[in-house]
Amino acid sequence: MIRNSKMKKTFILYYFLVFFMVSCSQKNETVRQRLIFTDHWKFSLGDIQGAQNPDFDDSEWRNLTLPHDWSIEGEFSQDNPAGSSGGALPGGVGWYRKTFFLDESEAKKKVCIDFDGVYQNSEVWINDHYLGKRPYGYSSFRYDLTPYLNYSEQKNTLAVRVDNSLQPNSRWYTGSGIYRNVWLVKTEKTHIDHWGTFVTTPLVDDHSATVKIELKIKNLDPEVKSIRVKNEIYNAENKSVAESKPAEIGGRTEEIIMDSLEIKDPRLWSVDNPSLYRAVHTVYADGVLTDLHETVFGIRTYEFDAEEGFSLNGKALKIHGVNNHHDLGALGAAVNIRAIERQLEILKKMGCNAIRTAHNPPAPELLSLCDQMGFLVMVEAFDMWAKKKTKYDSHLFWEEWHERDLTDMILRDRNHPSVFIWSIGNEIREQFDSTGITLAKELVDIVKEIDPTRPVTCALTEQDPQKNFIWQSGALDLISFNYKHNEYVHFPVNFPGEKMVASENVSALSTRGYYRMPSDSIMKWPEAHNVPVKGATPELTVSAYDHVHAYWGATHEETWDRVSTHDFISGMFIWSGFDYLGEPVPFDWPARSSYYGIIDLCGFPKDAYFLYQSLWTGTPMLHLFPHWNWEQGQMIDVWAYYNNADEVELYLNGESLGTRKKEHGRYHVQWRVKHEQGTIKAVSRKNGKPVQIKEIHTASEPATIELTADRDILRANGRDLSFITVKVLDKKGVLVPDADNLIRFDVKGEGTIAGVDNGYQASLEPFKANQRKAFNGMCLLILQATQSAGEIKIKASSKGLKSEEVIVLTK
Ligand code: GAL
Repeated sequence: MIRNSKMKKTFILYYFLVFFMVSCSQKNETVRQRLIFTDHWKFSLGDIQGAQNPDFDDSEWRNLTLPHDWSIEGEFSQDNPAGSSGGALPGGVGWYRKTFFLDESEAKKKVCIDFDGVYQNSEVWINDHYLGKRPYGYSSFRYDLTPYLNYSEQKNTLAVRVDNSLQPNSRWYTGSGIYRNVWLVKTEKTHIDHWGTFVTTPLVDDHSATVKIELKIKNLDPEVKSIRVKNEIYNAENKSVAESKPAEIGGRTEEIIMDSLEIKDPRLWSVDNPSLYRAVHTVYADGVLTDLHETVFGIRTYEFDAEEGFSLNGKALKIHGVNNHHDLGALGAAVNIRAIERQLEILKKMGCNAIRTAHNPPAPELLSLCDQMGFLVMVEAFDMWAKKKTKYDSHLFWEEWHERDLTDMILRDRNHPSVFIWSIGNEIREQFDSTGITLAKELVDIVKEIDPTRPVTCALTEQDPQKNFIWQSGALDLISFNYKHNEYVHFPVNFPGEKMVASENVSALSTRGYYRMPSDSIMKWPEAHNVPVKGATPELTVSAYDHVHAYWGATHEETWDRVSTHDFISGMFIWSGFDYLGEPVPFDWPARSSYYGIIDLCGFPKDAYFLYQSLWTGTPMLHLFPHWNWEQGQMIDVWAYYNNADEVELYLNGESLGTRKKEHGRYHVQWRVKHEQGTIKAVSRKNGKPVQIKEIHTASEPATIELTADRDILRANGRDLSFITVKVLDKKGVLVPDADNLIRFDVKGEGTIAGVDNGYQASLEPFKANQRKAFNGMCLLILQATQSAGEIKIKASSKGLKSEEVIVLTK
C-alpha cells in the first residue's frame, strides 16, 4: 500500500527513472557498459602479506557487498586513535578482493575500474599487477585494467589494500574502506574519454538556450581512418529537442570536439522545478558505432551581486543552505542512495535549498540527487592545504596530490546543474600568511582551466582584509565567511565591490527532546578556547531551546536575523543540517557525535528544524514545545514557531494563557507557564481565524510501541531501505518523552537490519545490532531489502510493553 499521493509520486518517478536508465543502458550495451561492481567481494580486517597475489587463499575471508565501512561495525572506545572527535570508532588496515571472468569477445575492449571513493590510502592490484595508490579518501579515480586482463576461463583477481591506520587524520568521522560505489566500464577502442564531456549553456533567454558541448575523443585503434561524432538533446519526456550536424575528424588518437546546439523555449532548472535534459553523444569509427554516452545537464543562469545578493534565473533567491558531512548516521560512511535521498527529502521539507559538502568532494550520487530534487551545491575540495589541522591529515600528501585531487573533482562534477560554487578549502591555515596568496592563485587557476563557468570561493574566517592573505590573492570570485556574524555588516566597507555568502555559521548545539530552563539564558558551550563547560549534565545532553551555541557561533535566530536583513549577503549555510559522527563539541568522550545538527543522527528533527520551516516555507505550520511531563508547579518555558498567521494563543487545560505575536528580530513566541499535568494547546490565527492547532498531553507510563515505516514497499535490489521510526507511547498513545526502554527487533523474510540508532550523542551502543534503547521516547530501525522479492515482517518488543509489528513488501 502506498499511503499518500506524495509517496506514490516519488515511487512512480523512481520507476520512470529506473526504466529510463535501463533502456538507455540497453541501447549502450554493445558499445559502452558501466556495470555496478559491488557484489561478491571478500574482505579481511588487518594487514596481510601477499594478499594481492591471485593464488592467495581468501576462502576464510568475509563475503560482502560494497559500499562498505568497517569502522561503523566496530566498538566505540576511548582508545581508538581517531578520538571522540573522529567518532571514537576503529580504523586500521583492511583488504578487499574480488574475482571475475571476462568473455573472449571482450578482449578488444578497453576495460576500466572506477572507484567513487576509498578511505583512504588505497592501493590496487589486478592479477598481481600494481595499478597505483590514491591517498585522498574523497577522490574518485579510475584504473585501466585492459593490459593485464585474462579472458575466457582464466579468472581475474582484483585486490585493494586500504590503510586508515594513521590517526587522527580528520576532524570528523571518516569511515574506513571502499565506502562508495565501484564500477566496471567497458568501451570500444574509439570512445569518449573518462569525464570527457563538458556541457554548458552560455546563452539563455526566455525563448532559447545555446548549449555548448565539449567532447574529448580517444582513439586507441590505429586502423581507424575517420571518426564521426554527433550530439542530440532530449528533454525530461525523452523527446528530442535539438540535434547537431555530425563532426568529422580523422583517426587521431585524441581530439577535443566543440559543438553548439540551440534549444527553443527551454525549461529552466531551478530549486522548485529542477528540469533536466540529456545530451546523447554518439561516436562512429569508419562508419561503425563505437560509443554512445550521455550527459545529464540543466539550463539555468545565476549571479552573485555585490549589492543584491544571489539570483537564480533572474529572480532573487536567498540561499537557505546547510553544511553536511558525508556520514549517514548508523550506516556510517557507506554510500546508500536511499539514505542520501531521505536526508534531502527531510531538508527539502524544512525549506532548505542548498548544501555545502563540508569539507570534501561528495559521493557522486549526492550531486545527481541534488540535480533531480532541486538543491544548489557548493562543492568543497579540502579542509587543509599544506598546513595541517590534525597530525596525519592530507597535508602529508598535499605536495604530490593536490593538483590531481582538485582537477579530478572539477572534471567529475562540472556537468551537474546543482553545482553552483567551487570551494577550494575550508578555514585554511594559509589565510594567515603570504603562502595563502600563491596557493590560492594556483588552485583557482586549476579550477578555471577546467571550468571557467562557476565562481570559486574559499571559506574564510578572517574578516579583516589586511590579515586575510587568501582574499588578498585577488583570485576568488566570491567571498565566503565562516562565523563572526556581527561583522557581516562591515563587509561592504571592508571589501568594496565584492560578493558575499556566509559559508558557515550558527554552530548552535542541542539534543533532541532535552530542555533546560530558563530558555532565555544563553549558554556558550564552551565559553572560550580550552574552557571546560560549566553546568553540564552527567548525561552530556544539551538543551534544545535555541539557547546554546559554541563560542564562535550564535543562536539560529540571531544568525538568521543578520543574514536576512541584508540583501548583499547571498545567504547562508548552517553548521549543520544533520548531526554527524565525531566532533562532539562541547563535550569529549563518551560523547562521540555532534550536537550541531538541526536534525539528529537518526534523521529526527530537533526543534530548530521547525524554526526554519516557519521561515523558509510557505506551508502553514505551527510547532509547540517542549513536552508536558514536568514537576507540578515547575516554571516551564513554552515556545512556538509558526507562519501564515498573525498570532498564537496558548491554553493550559482549557484556560487561556494569552496571545503572543513575534516581535521584531525574534522568530518565536514564548510563555512562562507554571506546570500542571494535562494539555497545553496552541492555536495560531490569521485575521482572527484559526489556522493551525497543536496540543501536547502529559504522558503516563510507557505502555506500547509504535512503528512507522517511511516506505512500505521496497525494491528487492539488496540496497533499498525503509527507515522505521520507533516510538514508546503511553496507553493513550502519547509519546513518553523520557522513555529509554530497550527495544528488540525481530526481522523475518526478505530483509536485514542495516542499523539501529536513537540519536543520543553519548550512546555507546553499537549501530549494527538487533536492539536499541529508546532515547527521549524514540529510536530508529533501518531495514534493508534483500535481492529477493517478498515480505519482511518486523516485530518490535520490549519488557512490559505491548509489542508491535509492521510488514514491508519488496518487489
Ligand atoms: C568550523 C569548521 C567546521 C566545524 C565547525 C564546528 O570552524 O569549519 O568543520 O568544525 O567549526 O563549529
